[in-house]
Amino acid sequence: MEYVYLAAKHAHSGLRWVVLVLLILTIVNALGKRNGGTVYPAKNKLALFGLISVHVQLLLGLALYFLLSPLVSFEEGVMSNSVTRFYTVEHLVGMVLGIILITVGYSKAKRQAGINKGWKTVGIFYLIGLVVILASIPWPFRDLGAGWF
Ligand code: HEM
Repeated sequence: MEYVYLAAKHAHSGLRWVVLVLLILTIVNALGKRNGGTVYPAKNKLALFGLISVHVQLLLGLALYFLLSPLVSFEEGVMSNSVTRFYTVEHLVGMVLGIILITVGYSKAKRQAGINKGWKTVGIFYLIGLVVILASIPWPFRDLGAGWF
């Protein structure tokens, strides 16, 4: 189980960079086109890949949360330790909120296919989602025991 835990943890940690790059590219592309008179396509590839990347993180995160991670606990005292509190409550709530924002933005924009509006919808929802995700990442300087990769 130890190897499965380490593999899932490193995949989850490394995939953060794929998520961040895809979200930034989607936002820059979408906001750049919002006034350009281009119609939003039924399937915007970048927005779709960004959506898939956060959903893969959600699945890996759920496996870590409920099955593998020793840093998640439902015992008494979890709130008085900043590391277990972060992973049990703050990381989960922040990330789920960020993923919901991105999912809602993608589906709302899909319904605006054929008109210019979808770019702005994707740009704004993905941007707010990105900010929430950035704030919920256990960056090494936050002293939560996590690394850069
Ligand atoms: C876009 C979404 C997400 C990103 C970018 C992200 C990123 C990260 C990062 C960078 C770590 C630190 C890994 C390390 O130790 O180096 C981590 C740990 C963790 N994440 Fe996420 N996460 C996301 C979503 C989620 C979700 C939705 C859940 C729960 C359902 C979750 C559960 C966990 C848990 C339990 C750990 C602790 C693993 C351990 O060290 O034992 N994550 N996450």
